[in-house]
Amino acid sequence: METLKSSTLQLRQLTKKYNNFEAVRDLDLNVPSGSLLTLLGPSGCGKSTVLRMIAGFLNVTSGEILVDGKDISRVEPNFRDIGMVFQNYALFPHMTVESNVAFGLKMRGVAKHEQAERVRDALAMVQMTHLADRYPSQLSGGQQQRVALARAVVIKPKLLLLDEPLGALDRHLREGLQSELRDLQRQLGITSILVTHDQDEALYLSDYIAVMNGGCIEQLDTPIALYDRPQTEFVARFLGVPNIFASTVVASSSSEVTVSLGGQNIIVPTDTGKTVGSSCKISVRPSHIEVARSEDPRQGVTAVIKSAHELGERIVYHCEVADLKIEANAPRISSSERFAVGQSVKLVLDPAHTVLLRD
Ligand SMILES: Nc1ncnc2c1ncn2[C@@H]1O[C@H](COP(=O)(O)OP(=O)(O)OP(=O)(O)O)[C@@H](O)[C@H]1O
Ligand SMILES: [Mg+2]
Repeated sequence: METLKSSTLQLRQLTKKYNNFEAVRDLDLNVPSGSLLTLLGPSGCGKSTVLRMIAGFLNVTSGEILVDGKDISRVEPNFRDIGMVFQNYALFPHMTVESNVAFGLKMRGVAKHEQAERVRDALAMVQMTHLADRYPSQLSGGQQQRVALARAVVIKPKLLLLDEPLGALDRHLREGLQSELRDLQRQLGITSILVTHDQDEALYLSDYIAVMNGGCIEQLDTPIALYDRPQTEFVARFLGVPNIFASTVVASSSSEVTVSLGGQNIIVPTDTGKTVGSSCKISVRPSHIEVARSEDPRQGVTAVIKSAHELGERIVYHCEVADLKIEANAPRISSSERFAVGQSVKLVLDPAHTVLLRD
């Protein structure tokens, strides 16, 4: 199947109210052409509502949905040129695989011979050619999801929307399909939005991730930037950062602040210009804290090791400084120095990955 001309998607001040409840509030979003953007967030934050508005299954309360600069928010779903894959596959049970995939083409009045050719290409793309005559009930979950994907892309949509497309599958199958989905999206170059609440899936598949909270986007970033530098406490917690410290600003300049961690000073790069004496929160991933000997000359926090566990590829240290608990991870390789419970150590925080969280 040839690469499609990729579209851009912009959401402007998109809002959805159910009676008085705002499920999505003033949402702005740009999805560059050909990229895959993931909406990531906890249950109920509004992910599916956004997707359904883009697809046209839900009316917008206010705001605009621009595809290639044209507002489609009042266009009937059938005329939006959007392919959608649902969590529960939603294949037609009384139709074969082949007829399921052909359905959208038939609806659009595509000529019979072209239908056959495009269905064949789409089924080949998801490796389902040999099962074309089966019914959905005769397929595994992964196979059904492949058909759903073929059915969505066969119409050569401007946008591909995927609502938890792998959510119903077991982990092993999920991981296999994740890489297939990624390859297919890249190969076709379709601008895509994926919805998931699985952060690993989001990190693996996405060009960009928008973390949603209560109908709004908290942070939009590349997967690496989001993982390394969550900007708010909500995002840091949602992405599983265990080290979030309440602290006080001791000194401040245009490029950094000095904060107190368990009574010891740490410099954190930032341009937010906090006032001295104000309270703040700091986050840093355990893998960005190096456990060093206490006499290490670098800037750090002197702490005591409370527990040490070798877990898979990591050594997990739980440390304490005054009443602060800090987790630090070291790679579990033979050259890593092992520190013992009760030992005093220097925790060296990587400044590039230590974040002053936004209020
Ligand atoms: N028809 C409706 N009437 C009233 N409230 C609704 C309706 N549909 C959804 N909501 C509410 O809107 C909010 C957002 O729902 P949505 O389905 O978009 O969440 P989600 O982020 O997709 O969650 P999940 O991860 O559980 O699928 C929720 O609080 C939900 O209860
Ligand atoms: Mg949902």
